Formats: sequence, C-alpha cells, structure tokens
Amino acid sequence: MRNTSILENEWFKVKIMKYFLDSAKIDEIRYAYENYKIDGITTNPKHILRSGKPFLEVIKEIATEFDGKKFPISVEINPHILKSEEMIKAAKDLAKISKNFVIKIPCNEQGLIAAKKLEDEGIRTNITLVFSPSQAIQAGRIGAKYVSPFIGWQEASGVNCALFLEDLVLAYENYRFKTEIIGAAIRNGNQIAQAAALGIHIVTCGLQVYKDSFTHPFTDRGLKVFQDAWDQIKGN
Ligand code: E4P
Repeated sequence: MRNTSILENEWFKVKIMKYFLDSAKIDEIRYAYENYKIDGITTNPKHILRSGKPFLEVIKEIATEFDGKKFPISVEINPHILKSEEMIKAAKDLAKISKNFVIKIPCNEQGLIAAKKLEDEGIRTNITLVFSPSQAIQAGRIGAKYVSPFIGWQEASGVNCALFLEDLVLAYENYRFKTEIIGAAIRNGNQIAQAAALGIHIVTCGLQVYKDSFTHPFTDRGLKVFQDAWDQIKGN
C-alpha cells in the first residue's frame, strides 16, 4: 500500500466515494436508490440478460425511472461491434435515448478510437473491460467520462489489485486526468474499502454486495448481548 493518499492532492479531492449499482433490474435499482443513496447505475449485457427483458425495453425503463434527474446510467453497445465507426453509430443511437446515458465502450484500440471521437462530440463514455494501468491511461488521455477497471474479475484469477489500482491512481494523479475511476465488478466489502483508501472515485457493485458490506456477524452478536441485557433490566 502507498503511504500517502491521493486525497492529499487538492486537485483530486472528491467529497465522497460514489456508489453505483451494477444492475438492470428495476426493483433492485429502486430499492438501492431509495435506501442506499446510490449515485448512478452501470449495466452490461449480463445484467440485461438477468432482467429477462429485451435490451431496449430495459434501458428505456431505467432511463424513464430517472427522467429529469441528473443520474448517470452506463449502457453498453452491442459487444459484437468491433469497428470504431460502427461503435460510434451504436453509441450515438443509445445516447439519443437519454441525457443520462454514458456509453460503455470496450477498452481496445477500436474502442478507444471511437470513444475519443464520441467525447469530442460531447457523448460521454465509460471505457469498460479495463485490466491494466496502460489501458486506463489512454482512457484518461482521451477524456473519457469514466474508466472501469474490473477488480473482481482480476482478483478471481488470483491477481491482487492493490498494486494495479495504486499505479492507476498515481498515473491519474501525475497527469491530472478528469476521467473518474470506477472500481468495477466489486465483489466484497474489502474491495470497497480498498478502493476508498486509495481515493478511487466510484465503486459499482451488485445489490447483495452492498447489503453484505453494511453488516457484520459481530454486530449481530453484539446486538444479541444488548438484547439479553435489556431483557434483564428491572422494570422493562
Ligand atoms: C461494470 O461496469 C460492469 O458492469 C461490472 O462491474 C462487470 O462485472 P460483473 O457483471 O461480473 O459484476
């Protein structure tokens, strides 16, 4: 771990790490919005599939839910599209649906070419499927709105992401990139805490990961101790 925090640098100061919900299920989205103070949504084709509804129907439903509010919703282009010109067209079609849409573009050469052109034209992008600092640096250089390193996927394959994230944060700090880093595919509270310690701007997690991160077995055990004591207080 680095022994200095990115928060020591005035320019990078963020008020609070944002929590995005990684889901396309409207009931989960409503629950998290009402109860967890979530700041945005990220979706991907897996989440759309789990919603059981067609792609356009789901993303329009989510868009309508936040009509009139400033609320970023990341929506992914068809992952079979591999040429930058076609990615640009697909992204523009999606961006027309909602002002809140941020278009997820895969982090490869064609994707980064497309994203640069989209950002130049005012269409906000989320560079997704990021697995190395060098990929993320190019996302910062082209002025993407977000960059999404996939923490959970990396750690599932045995990689400890702490060093990866540290390098990423340092590189962004060095060059004052405006791109916000989303710690994506977060699987547990430890990864949330690690992201916060490094000054990562945003984490995106499924509803259950947030639920679990708010609880602790010792809290439950402690509560039971207090309940037992309460029941023995004279006069109760
Ligand atoms: C982030 O934007 C992605 O949607 C997400 O975190 C990908 O990972 P998962 O669907 O495996 O959680």
